[in-house]
Order: sequence, then C-alpha cells, then structure tokens
Amino acid sequence: MNLFPSLKQRYTKEQLSAREAQRLAEFIAFGPVIFQTARILAKWGILEMIRNSESGMTIHEVAEKTKISEYASKCLLEAGLCIGILLIDENSDKFTLSKTGWFLINDPATKVNIDFNHYVNYLGWFNLEEALKTGTPAGLKTLGDWPTIYEGLSSLPKHIQDSWFGFDHFYSDNSFDEALEIVFAGKPKTLLDVGGNTGRWALRCVRHDADVKVTILDLPQQIALMKANIEGKEGAERIDGLGADLLDESQEMPDTTPFEAVWMSQFLDCFSEHQIVSILKRASKVMNKDSRLYIMETFWDRQRFEPAALCLTLTSLYFTALANGNSKMYHSEDMERLVNEAGLEIETIHDNLGQGHSIMVCKLK
Ligand SMILES: C[S@@+](CC[C@H](N)C(=O)[O-])C[C@H]1O[C@@H](n2cnc3c(N)ncnc32)[C@H](O)[C@@H]1O
Repeated sequence: MNLFPSLKQRYTKEQLSAREAQRLAEFIAFGPVIFQTARILAKWGILEMIRNSESGMTIHEVAEKTKISEYASKCLLEAGLCIGILLIDENSDKFTLSKTGWFLINDPATKVNIDFNHYVNYLGWFNLEEALKTGTPAGLKTLGDWPTIYEGLSSLPKHIQDSWFGFDHFYSDNSFDEALEIVFAGKPKTLLDVGGNTGRWALRCVRHDADVKVTILDLPQQIALMKANIEGKEGAERIDGLGADLLDESQEMPDTTPFEAVWMSQFLDCFSEHQIVSILKRASKVMNKDSRLYIMETFWDRQRFEPAALCLTLTSLYFTALANGNSKMYHSEDMERLVNEAGLEIETIHDNLGQGHSIMVCKLK
C-alpha cells in the first residue's frame, strides 16, 4: 500500500514502548469516558478558565468559579490530569493546561470533531458492529428514520444539523481559495456542482468569475435549503438548482450542453465503490474532450500530518454507522481505479489544500 512519507514512518514500524502501548490500550478501553470528560472540561469553560489564570487553579477554585460541586470538580480535574489534558503543581495543588489541553480549546479542527462526534455520532457508535455486519447505517436510527443521513439532513434538530454542517463546511471551506485557482485556471463558463449542498462553493464561484454559470445537483430537499441560503447574495441569479437522487441509476445529470467543469467536493465519499462508478459514468456523459472533472477529497493516504489520517480513517466509520453503511474516506489508489473504470483518467493531482484535501483533475479517456 502506498502512503505519504509522513504516514509510512509511523504506520510501518512500532512506535511505542511496552508501557506506552499498555497505556494506549487502557485509553482505548476507557475511550467513551475520556471523550466525555475532555468535552465537558472544554464545554464548561474549565480549560479556558485554567488557561487564563495566573498560575493555575485548585479543585476548590474551579468548583467555586464554575458553581459545580467540589466532588464534580475533583472527578473532572483528576481524570483530566490522568488523560493528559492537565498538569498539576505538586506544591500548590494548582492545575494548569498541558499542550493537549491547549489543542482542545484552540484547534478548530479538534473542536468541530468533538461536536460532530458528540451530537451526530455518539449514540450511533453503539451500533457500529451491526452496521459493519449488515452494510446498513444501523446507528442512524438514533437520529431519525431515513435510509441514509442525507435524506434527513434538512430535518435534523437544529443543534445536530449545525454540528453536521459545521463539520462538513469546516473541511471544504478551508480549501475553497486554493481550489478556485485550480478550477478557474481553465476559465470554465459552465460548472456543474454535484452534491453542492447549501451552495457555498457555487457562491464562491460566481463571486470569483463574473461569467460563470453554476448548476447545483443535489437531493431535492437539499436544493430547497440551498435556494434559501443563496437568496439575495451576489451572483445568486447565475446559480441553478436541480433536485435528483443519484442513487437511482436512471437519474441522469443535466445534458443540455456539456459542462466545461464538473465539480465534486466531499461528494464521492458518500457512496460505495459500485455507486461511484455509476455516478462517474453519468458525469462523463455531460463532459466533452475539453471538460474537466475535479474531484476534491481528503484521501487518507495523502496526508502530510498523521493526525489527519487518523481522523479520516475514523470518519470512514461514521459513514458505516451513521451515514449510509457503505461508503468511506477512500485511499487515492481506490479512487483512481474507480475513475478509470468509469472511462475517465486522471490528468493531475493537487495535494495539501486546506485541511488536507487533494484535487484529482480528470478528463475523458
Ligand atoms: C458531504 S456533503 C458535501 C457538500 C459540499 N460539496 C462540500 O464540499 O461541502 C455531500 C452532499 O452530497 C449530497 N448527496 C448525498 N447523497 C446524494 C444522492 N443520492 N443524490 C444527490 N446528492 C446526494 C448531500 O445532500 C450533500 O449535499
């Protein structure tokens, strides 16, 4: 298996001493409560309060300031110490923030991941085993009664919906600046945004280029959300919406004239390998030899930083348990194989955009 050098070093050789490995095994065993402890320490503002204090805070001071019991403060801080979020000064009994604690409150990626795991995934993780066995999103019933999460997105309770969109937008938004340069280098006049969601990329396109016309294809309920979102914004009159369920193989893409650019951002990871080939074959029908298909994905093997690969392979299991039961964050070689099967070929790959996206630029074979 090919891996970027940053990952090869870590994933091909044992990194830990026996003692460290035993600690990590216990970390895994207590994973759910470690997660909740860290989340609560951050949510209740305790980590921030400690960070802002002059020389740290005692259990009593934290209890007093946050108006929680001494018991609750003691349990949280002692656990925070042992999981590595806090440090303690032996003489004053004051707790200070560790580097990991600092990341928990300052790293935007960590913050969206914590929210996403708590509000969207937490209850559903319990059904991961069943989901893996059946190939169905067995944990989705904890959120509602839909075949996949996508049909439910527009009707999720507000705090869960905010967390889902927060997760999705955080990753894609951070790559849009560089992506615009790549896509508009070829000055496309027509762009099909497949899975365009709330229209954030489409709005960026019409603002970036005064001539481009964008068509967003997404599920009908998503198109309604998108229309409400773009209303009155600059260039909205050059954005069209088309509702279609691409899981239905008889649903073709709009074929008026070929699109100069077809854009799929964080889209193909919502589908199984078989479904991806079917979608790409349908996309190739609305392309001509000059059209380019841009696939923007976070491929787990092409990450510069190892924590990103960790997040991505675990996000795959969100697709298993919650989203649809059969898709994932792909290895780039798997995607390349599917692109070829669909009658397309990769012209170039741009790596290291934003939080770790790559763009595969594809053309008809
Ligand atoms: C993960 S979001 C990506 C959104 C956006 N492109 C971005 O980069 O942030 C996937 C999008 O694909 C859409 N989608 C999922 N299943 C679909 C289907 N069967 N047919 C059409 N669109 C679908 C979802 O509604 C959602 O807007």
